[in-house]
Amino acid sequence: MTPFVERRRRLLGQIGSGSVAVLFAAPEQRRSNDTFFPYRQNSYFHYLTGFPEPESVLVLDGSAQAAVLFCRDKDDVSEIWEGFRYGADAAREAFGMDAAYSIASWREQMPKILQNAQRLLVLPEEGGAAGQALVRHWQKIKNGAAVENLAACLDGMRLIKDRHETDLLKTAGEISAAAHIRAMQKTRPDISELHIEAELLHEFMRRGARFPAYPSIVAGGKNACCLHYTANNDTLRNGDLLLVDAGAEYQGYAGDITRTFPVNGRFGGAQKDLYEVVLAANEAAIAAVKPGAAWAGIQQTALNILARGMVDFKLLAGTVEGNIESGAFKRYYMHGLGHWVGLDVHDTGGRPAVLQAGMCTTVEPGIYIAAAADIPACFHNIGIRVEDNVLVTESGCENYTAAAPKSVAAIEETMRG
Ligand code: GLY
Ligand code: MN
Ligand code: MN
Repeated sequence: MTPFVERRRRLLGQIGSGSVAVLFAAPEQRRSNDTFFPYRQNSYFHYLTGFPEPESVLVLDGSAQAAVLFCRDKDDVSEIWEGFRYGADAAREAFGMDAAYSIASWREQMPKILQNAQRLLVLPEEGGAAGQALVRHWQKIKNGAAVENLAACLDGMRLIKDRHETDLLKTAGEISAAAHIRAMQKTRPDISELHIEAELLHEFMRRGARFPAYPSIVAGGKNACCLHYTANNDTLRNGDLLLVDAGAEYQGYAGDITRTFPVNGRFGGAQKDLYEVVLAANEAAIAAVKPGAAWAGIQQTALNILARGMVDFKLLAGTVEGNIESGAFKRYYMHGLGHWVGLDVHDTGGRPAVLQAGMCTTVEPGIYIAAAADIPACFHNIGIRVEDNVLVTESGCENYTAAAPKSVAAIEETMRG
């Protein structure tokens, strides 16, 4: 429990005496009638507690420098149907809380905790009806005083990953890479995209990841030109490329890998030409990731390579600089180079201008070419992205997803194997 206790201690230090922070566990989500989606804890709540149950509230009391958990009671009948619950006493012990009580007593205890506080910090989007009632109560007892946004503190903490987190991100990256290798080995013409999604899930779960970090994108041929394609119900065709964007969630932490490879195991001429451009952009950007590097500069490095490829292959007329200046490249590259990855696949933290050790980013350039009369037919319906997860280290960076093959030779060899 050390990392969670340590994070609470740091946050308590930041909010200081006179402040109270309140965080809510994620609610359960109904899927249909009396069936629920598999439960996933709220990322902020998990970050500070490691506590896996819904119907829980964490209260951080800055004056007492104490962490108090409110959670479900032990319940013999519910535990027979739905499984183990900690109950307050065991939760206090197991999760290193200063105190823990039944969630049934939360409403009654909260006014006492807030009575002498000068600041209340919450996550504005979280907590549902209980969160809104808490804010109303605060405003009533403090003459309309505003609540403050706890995300301002927490996002700064989550941006710089601690050792516990980098270990889990590394494992998530390794599991995700193994799944991409399996996907490459199982891909062949005339099977369905869904078959490959199943192969990814097989490898995630076999290696201890209970869930994908986000819905897997398994997009053959033209489907790869739809950036968030998740139907995964088409047939893979001989001669097409397959774009797979999939990552495991391991103990709450996301992997997020994209690889693009030929359905029949051999890149065609135009496919290979474009693939080499995207791969070069991915590799040049990763090579530039280090502490002190400007993210805008790294984006520019990748964009220069992509735009040069677009001009060289006559997808764009004019100069590289002119097409960057005018934004014409966005016809084929319409997203950013990357995002933070952590407890959320699109992790919190904003985009500070300069990279710092402990930040973990994706690097994911792409080129997507829908069929059009002004484009040579050999490039129609090709979507390519190459995505890795990169930790900024003291001396440069570490690519957590490097085990997923990405050179043309390595992909073709993996697919033969
Ligand atoms: N898989 C989502 C993304 O790459 O951003
Ligand atoms: Mn991504
Ligand atoms: Mn992705």
